[in-house]
Amino acid sequence: MKLKRTHTTDLINDSLLGQELILNGWLNSRRDLGGIIFIDLRDRYGLVQVRFADDLPKNILEKAHRLSAEDVIAVKGTVLARPEAAVNPKISSGKLELLASDLEILNKAKTPPFEISRRETGSEDLRLKYRYLDLRTTEMKRNLELRSKAAIATRNFLSGNRFMEIETPFLMKSTPEGARDFLVPSRINAGKFYALPQSPQTYKQLLMVSGFDRYFQLVKCFRDEDLRADRQLEFTQIDIEMSFVDEADVQELSEGLLKHIVKAATGKAMEIPFPKLTWEEAMEKYGSDKPDIRFDLPIHKADDFAKMSSFGVFHSALESGNVVRVLKVSGGASFSRKQIDEYTSLAKINGAKGLAWLKLTENGGEGGISKFVNDEALKALIHQTKAEPGDCFFFIADEWETGLTALGMVRNALGKALNLIPEDALAPLWVTEFPLLEFDPEEQRYVARHHPFTSPRLDELERLETHPAEVKARAYDLVLNGYEIAGGSIRIFQKDLQQRMFRLLNIGDDEARAKFGFLLDAFEYGAPPHGGIAFGFDRLVMILAGSDSIRELIAFPKTTTGQSPMDGAPDTVSQKQLDELKISLIREKAAK
Ligand code: AMO
Ligand code: AMP
Repeated sequence: MKLKRTHTTDLINDSLLGQELILNGWLNSRRDLGGIIFIDLRDRYGLVQVRFADDLPKNILEKAHRLSAEDVIAVKGTVLARPEAAVNPKISSGKLELLASDLEILNKAKTPPFEISRRETGSEDLRLKYRYLDLRTTEMKRNLELRSKAAIATRNFLSGNRFMEIETPFLMKSTPEGARDFLVPSRINAGKFYALPQSPQTYKQLLMVSGFDRYFQLVKCFRDEDLRADRQLEFTQIDIEMSFVDEADVQELSEGLLKHIVKAATGKAMEIPFPKLTWEEAMEKYGSDKPDIRFDLPIHKADDFAKMSSFGVFHSALESGNVVRVLKVSGGASFSRKQIDEYTSLAKINGAKGLAWLKLTENGGEGGISKFVNDEALKALIHQTKAEPGDCFFFIADEWETGLTALGMVRNALGKALNLIPEDALAPLWVTEFPLLEFDPEEQRYVARHHPFTSPRLDELERLETHPAEVKARAYDLVLNGYEIAGGSIRIFQKDLQQRMFRLLNIGDDEARAKFGFLLDAFEYGAPPHGGIAFGFDRLVMILAGSDSIRELIAFPKTTTGQSPMDGAPDTVSQKQLDELKISLIREKAAK
């Protein structure tokens, strides 16, 4: 190339007026006005308008005429002020333009499948197929820039606090941690498999045994689970582990880290410490273990009200030990039947048996279950919830966790539908005191709610075998705007307790030995008390970017069906590759 760039577009300002310089970039747009040609040249940093005057040598003008969208070009020219009427306040160089004296076409481009400056002209599928073009858009550039800033801020903050970044293997032993493992066959150990880490959990604990008392890693994790807008098969964690700490130390460090990242990436200030709720409080008040506290729409207990009513569903619920809970929706009396049906389906999709309702008017209760509610009961409910005419109530009668979870989903939907969520707000909180275990009806055994290395509360140890479901974990989640952005715990660091935990999870001593022998062994060589946390980095930057899909913050993400439309992954492999791995595929009958 003849015309190598001297400047990037963001550097063009008044101080360069009258100077000659060279820009390299892409043709964003071209407008031919009679003899004069205007183009917008785009590089990573922005846009600059370039004017080709009609007195330029013919060969240059011809080239300028041939330019089409996304051609890669080099332009030489002089910085001039635009006439007042031509100023474009939308771009940083909008008061200036480059008067071209030379043009080089470095590479012609095919017409792109969607317009780079109007991203909405391409569907997400199309944009993922041509992701390298999607990444040229202002939106994706902004997102990746924010992500990069957040990553650098993370490293600065943690290394400033004496954390060491240590890499851990991607090819490890399959040690189930909750989700399904991705397996990688070993060629040199035919018939054996590595697993890709769901997180570096065991490694970081081993690093504590080794004495690296403050570890972190920005690390890829791999989980073969069903994808959602906030879940990918491979995602990034800010993984942290510390020795000689308790919950408060990890939480304080995490608060400082989040505050620092938010400031660096968005300029916003965050107040610390963050509020805390126990898991039980979060469930009772918001129907979620990751409550969105940007808006106030609390769930109320309605067991007493239910008793006073004559609604059969409520009475049979209470008799079988279930609970009744209610949401008071300000202004909800204006909901149509259709809207109420939609909230009812939402509750049902989330496990509830139904959603009972009644509206409050000047004349008292109306519609829904109002015929089962006498004046006295209604008065008590109005008093309890500070309801007013024009409001409505949504009730759920169910098993505690199921009912509250469903009502929590209705709460979130109402928050959105009624515009209760302030834009730009960041509402963090800690959720603590999770139950240690959760019963898995499919496997008919207890599973760890966080992971099997999480310590039970020490004052509840003697109840571990007798009342396993009631024991609380030394675990904590950090929630931001209704998303779980980090989770961690104080760990078990003694072999005996770790073995007791495995037994509770119905992992026999032999199985525990086979799967986690290395960790149990390590615990016998002087394991310090330790604990840590991992932030979902993609989720965090998604929230900071104001997006609702982590795909928007990942350069090359997978679709919800786990595919990469751009390169066609996952794909079949050759017979030779399979033979080398001694793998034979069970093929579905082709005839089917
Ligand atoms: P956990 O499983 O809670 O903890 O994961 C930590 C955080 O990672 C994020 N996350 C995900 N992000 C995108 N896609 C996914 N599929 C996905 N799964 C999880 C969430 C979550 O809060 N080793 C423990 C941490 C510890 O105990 O220190 C762990 O991995 O934001
Ligand atoms: P049904 O008696 O099934 O016709 O239901 C009457 C109303 O009660 C409907 O609005 C249902 O959505 C609601 N309903 C049914 N079961 C429950 C429940 N367990 N909790 C709350 N509402 C319910």
